[in-house]
Amino acid sequence: MNSAPRRNPDRIPGSASSSSDGALSRPAGPPDAEPHAAWLPEAAFAAIGRRRVAIRGDGALVGTVAAEVAAATAAHGGSFTRLESGSGVSDADLVLTLTEDDDADLPSPPPPTTSRAGDHANLPRGRASTERNDVVGAQRGGVGAQDDVVGEQDGGDESFRVSREDGAVVVEAACDQGLLYGFFHVARLGEAAFDGPDLVERHAPASGLRMLDHWDNVAVHAVMGQVERGYAGGSIFFADGKVRADLSRVEAYARLLASTGINRVAINNVNVHAREARLLTDDLPHVARIAAAFRPWGIRVHLSVSFAAPMTLGGLGTSDPLDPAVASWWRDAADRAWAEIPDFGGFVVKADSEGQPGPFAYGRDHADGANMLAAAVAPHGGIVHWRAFVYDHRQDWRDRSTDRARAAHDHFAPLDGRFAENVIVQVKYGPMDFQVREPVSPVIAAMPDTRVALELQVTQEYTGQQKHAVYLGRQWSEILNFDFAGPDRDDARHAPDSDATPKSDAAPGSDAAPNSADPSHALPPTSVAGIVARSGGIVAVSNAGDDEFWTGHPFAQANLYAYGRLTWDPTADPDALLDEWVALTFPDAAADVVHALHTILDESWETYERYTSPLGVGFMVRPGHHYGPDVDGYEYTPWGTYHFADRDGIGVDRTVATGTGYAGLYPEPWASLYESPATCPDELLLFFHHVPYTHVLHSGKTVIQHIYDTHFDGVERVESFVAAWDRVRGSLPDDGAADRADRVGLADRVGLADRVGLADRVAERLAEQLRSATEWRDQVNTYFYRKSGVPDERGRTIY
Ligand code: GCU
Repeated sequence: MNSAPRRNPDRIPGSASSSSDGALSRPAGPPDAEPHAAWLPEAAFAAIGRRRVAIRGDGALVGTVAAEVAAATAAHGGSFTRLESGSGVSDADLVLTLTEDDDADLPSPPPPTTSRAGDHANLPRGRASTERNDVVGAQRGGVGAQDDVVGEQDGGDESFRVSREDGAVVVEAACDQGLLYGFFHVARLGEAAFDGPDLVERHAPASGLRMLDHWDNVAVHAVMGQVERGYAGGSIFFADGKVRADLSRVEAYARLLASTGINRVAINNVNVHAREARLLTDDLPHVARIAAAFRPWGIRVHLSVSFAAPMTLGGLGTSDPLDPAVASWWRDAADRAWAEIPDFGGFVVKADSEGQPGPFAYGRDHADGANMLAAAVAPHGGIVHWRAFVYDHRQDWRDRSTDRARAAHDHFAPLDGRFAENVIVQVKYGPMDFQVREPVSPVIAAMPDTRVALELQVTQEYTGQQKHAVYLGRQWSEILNFDFAGPDRDDARHAPDSDATPKSDAAPGSDAAPNSADPSHALPPTSVAGIVARSGGIVAVSNAGDDEFWTGHPFAQANLYAYGRLTWDPTADPDALLDEWVALTFPDAAADVVHALHTILDESWETYERYTSPLGVGFMVRPGHHYGPDVDGYEYTPWGTYHFADRDGIGVDRTVATGTGYAGLYPEPWASLYESPATCPDELLLFFHHVPYTHVLHSGKTVIQHIYDTHFDGVERVESFVAAWDRVRGSLPDDGAADRADRVGLADRVGLADRVGLADRVAERLAEQLRSATEWRDQVNTYFYRKSGVPDERGRTIY
């Protein structure tokens, strides 16, 4: 594998309309500064690069596409032509074209029954769903009203159309952003894009808001470090207490993200410390440089801001959201931000959460706080992402009536309908905190008159911290396709056939044209994806840093990749996305290497679940850094994350009948399903119920025997991962490691010394995964054996 050249579109004259086959030169820089190519090695562009490619259209992102094509064709022997506007479609093998007024076959807009949060995001074009459902009610779909508030800004149509006739492919898009996505679509398919029967397909993202949040600090935080919950080295944005001078990493990152469909990035930690607060003021010119690095890739930058900024930065005596001076301070701040960064996205806010300042200090609520900020950014078309991660982190562990799982619902559901149109309430997928298994947060279905975003965690805080190989695509797919209308509805969901539509069946350009590849057609309005797609979209905490493999564990790249692809199409099969990532990242890999990758990654999420906390009860991690087992680590703390194990049983009674009532926050049939141990799914049993160790699961096992069996089995699975990698690691193609071998300082920072090469990095991490899994197994099994006194029926070693 080779490191891919970073392609800066600015290096190609974007306005060039003449024929060009010029190679894009590699940006200057020492070879050791070059990160791993991830899923965009040069080989990923071979199919395009070998062909005659023509591009028609103008626009910044067309320049990006042109630079990509120029580099690919230069590397692989094809040719590249820029067609004049108005010229006919050439005889090229691949034509990438913006549609022009006189084009007969414009890509069709989404059919009226589909909804696209893009319409809300930039607030746009009035195509949101008017569907209603009985369970969760219609989400805020009043498009006209939103147009008034935010208006149309960049908001381009991100869709594209692909047609193939006799092996020649035409990608058409109404906007340059769509053309960029169409280009990466063809690259992803490789030769398959040019093979096969004639077809016409239209592709559009399910949601217009597809975002990553970085928890990066400008100054290294004494406890949390440079990147809070970061497991991939330092920040790609910040070093030495300021924005980096060299943002070439950011450009390369933006390219990777754009290839998966991400279109927004918040660059700093939601916990906004004193230094980071100044990104909004003193540092704006430098934030503008970051925005410029993202811009050619269709990605807009957002900032996390401190609710106390009017006091800490503005010198006011209050941050009361209803104080006119405070509102005015925020308006000025927003005006300055947009003056510096015309396509700035908006603010992310963690308020009244884990010590962050917020409106509660003034007797105001979250709607008061969010709406004040929303008014400040509205004239610029900005968005306020207001996080719903609000709970009492100082609760008394003796008090069993307070339930952290209820907190977000208790705080936010009563505010439904009060948030401004450009406020997005950002809800973590589960009611607790990014655990390996949690029920889907009921808040997502509880605010039909509020724009809601789903928040996922790509960074593996509670899932092995990028030392463990854990592919999370399956978890996210399960969450996205969770249907509040009930489990049966999952099966009823119409999954789109992503195969090509025969051209003969499609009337090109018409709404009636079958569009098998447009995911917005397939989202039930009551599913998580269906709700957020036409509302606030999807957000996740990024897992990337300045590590040479981007993500610490090279296999954690698969999570970043799959996350982006799922934001575009939440119905995508996560196993197929893993196949895609493998094929792109390891293009030359032999079959046995591919087999090993699947052996390790396919069921890695389930494996992690097996050797850590059982049956949905969560946590049991070391307090503070959250790595490794500590069954009682949080049991007698104020954090609200308890398992309540005693000699008789374990689990949290969250029933309506005898517990905290949390189960009743779900619509039917889920409320009833979760309420009874007889119907509660095994994997969530201990989240909802306190049961004896001898309780028999649907699987037929007792809880205690399930704990023993899964923990022994989990470690055996990790042993098989190690063996699988040992068998193939020697045969991996060169990954450019020699060029990067002197980056040991970086390796040291992520806790691994003297590594060279992907194969070795993976081997080191797998060894640590096995050590850690064994530690988990032995501590968890021993803890519950000692508590319960029930021996393992198979007599295995428990201490
Ligand atoms: C978790 C995490 C924190 C983070 C918080 C959040 O609790 O451990 O580091 O700040 O989530 O999402 O705000």
